[in-house]
Amino acid sequence: MLYPQEIIEEVRLQNDIVDVISEYLPLKQKGTSYFGLCPFHNEKTPSFSVNSERQFYYCFGCGAGGNVYTFIMQMENDTFPEAVRRLADRAHIILPEPQYTQQAKEQEMKKQRLFQLHKQAGRFFYEKLHESVGEEARAYLQKRQMNINMQKKFGIGYAPKGQQQLYQYLQQQGFSEQELQQSGLVIQRKEGKGYFDRFHNRLMFPILDIQGRVIGFGGRILQSGEPKYLNSPETLIFNKSKNLYGLNFAKNTRKREIILVEGYMDMISIYQAGFRNVAASLGTAFNQEHAKTLKKYADSVILLYDSDDAGTMAAQRAIPILTQNGFRVKVMQVPNGKDPDEFIKQNGAEAFSHLLANAMHYVTFQIQCLRKEYDFTQTQQKVEFTTKTANILAKLDNDIERNVYTNEISNMTGISQQAIENEINKIINKENDVFAQSAYQKRNTQYYQKNEEVKTKSHGLFAAQKDILYLCASNIQVYNKIKTILSPEDFIEPVYQKVYEYIALLYQKNSTVFPAELVNYFEQQQQQKLVTQIFAVSSEYKTMRDLEKALTEEVKTIKRVSLDRLASQAEDIEQIKKLVIEKGKLDGLYITLADG
Ligand code: CTP
Ligand code: MN
Repeated sequence: MLYPQEIIEEVRLQNDIVDVISEYLPLKQKGTSYFGLCPFHNEKTPSFSVNSERQFYYCFGCGAGGNVYTFIMQMENDTFPEAVRRLADRAHIILPEPQYTQQAKEQEMKKQRLFQLHKQAGRFFYEKLHESVGEEARAYLQKRQMNINMQKKFGIGYAPKGQQQLYQYLQQQGFSEQELQQSGLVIQRKEGKGYFDRFHNRLMFPILDIQGRVIGFGGRILQSGEPKYLNSPETLIFNKSKNLYGLNFAKNTRKREIILVEGYMDMISIYQAGFRNVAASLGTAFNQEHAKTLKKYADSVILLYDSDDAGTMAAQRAIPILTQNGFRVKVMQVPNGKDPDEFIKQNGAEAFSHLLANAMHYVTFQIQCLRKEYDFTQTQQKVEFTTKTANILAKLDNDIERNVYTNEISNMTGISQQAIENEINKIINKENDVFAQSAYQKRNTQYYQKNEEVKTKSHGLFAAQKDILYLCASNIQVYNKIKTILSPEDFIEPVYQKVYEYIALLYQKNSTVFPAELVNYFEQQQQQKLVTQIFAVSSEYKTMRDLEKALTEEVKTIKRVSLDRLASQAEDIEQIKKLVIEKGKLDGLYITLADG
């Protein structure tokens, strides 16, 4: 933990979850709960609930849940300490200096060294470009019409021919072999000892993170050859799924609209032409993590991929990822199968800005792509096309937009607008039904399970662990009883072990356990979600007897599995015998709460 637990709790208390979430999405009150459309998955009927009493949120649709920190982490793509800082800021609380663990300190040191190493490597490549060995690379840049300002801005360099040029340079700068290897810029020889540079005779594009630090490189071959681009591998500081090339510059435009392209040269070309809100997804396909990164700086994306099949497919794949993450999406294509860089070189910035202004809504693009697959001289194919497009249009939230496209499809196919609308409504209703049904089933099975467990004594291990933890946290009397039987190690799930330990801790501190406070102890979203799920549904037992019965069965289930596990790890027979006896005793166990 970077910050003391009391501060983390104080910051949480000063940030009411309903207020915080309301800043991101509209919520409607129903009792102590508030409902809204889940920001973490695509839905049309609200299944996202915020409980003001428990200071929790939980989505019955996708299972997302947690306290105010979890929400900020999910929404802003923050780490736990970042979320603490953001919310402390919001509540005008001044945080103490962070307390790093020894391990965190070492990791941070390693990263700092790698940043320095990359900075030096960038400098080395830059210098080589301007020495005599860089002549061919300079000529290449001239041919590609990248001006000197851009070369400087993007730190373009040249990796010279030879095996160990960078290696030796960095060693002279005091970097160890281990550090060099961790950077991915040198590679260990397969046979025997020694290293060689990853990049030689390539034009070098430093890849910068959002703070403008060099975290890796892309290298382009000067003549033709394979691979055309060679990139740094993933390292401690370089995560390909998170970083977008050029975003560190694009973010400064504060436009909240980003032109997204595929390549280094496309990105720089567009930037040079005066459109500064551009970034590239570099080699890897655009993914959820990219979307989360981008979300901090933009609400709207213009996809500008190559107009060839590969580019079209890549755009098709990026669309749902972007819309799911709440972006407005447009698609722009340059004519005649050119890429953006070539188009600008041939037609200039003015022509490019016209294309940009005419970027189409993603739905138009999807319809266009689909249209190519069908032969309209055949009625059946027209019908199939229309059905497919109805599925696309059903996903649109805006009725006016939907109406425009329905009209368009009607004109294309000659099928009446009314018929298409009916089809769309059918799809929407079906989706709502499926949702309503699954929510209903879920509630029903929960109820069913609750009654069942008391009657038939059968209970899943995970459900048993969850319920025990829920009951321990809700009632100190239950906890005091259970702690005499179960120890943390009896829980299979490591997060549950921790929860059980923290319940003890919190009872020492307060007389009650606040679930939202308990969540603070976990820094990973996945862990926070697991903790929240313990409290998402309250189990209620009508009588004391029912509660005792349930506790007894659940404890037995947990203890049996735990004893079996110990037995399987036991090293001598005596130990196993003891465990078997203990397990036998379980049969006679009956938990009563009355006597404390
Ligand atoms: N790419 C890559 N590795 C390759 C080929 C491509 O990482 N072997 C990535 C690069 O980021 C490249 C982008 O995919 O910029 C687009 O590739 P491509 O269209 O082939 O190249 P261009 O950007 O058009 O490159 P150039 O204009 O320099 O030929
Ligand atoms: Mn190109």
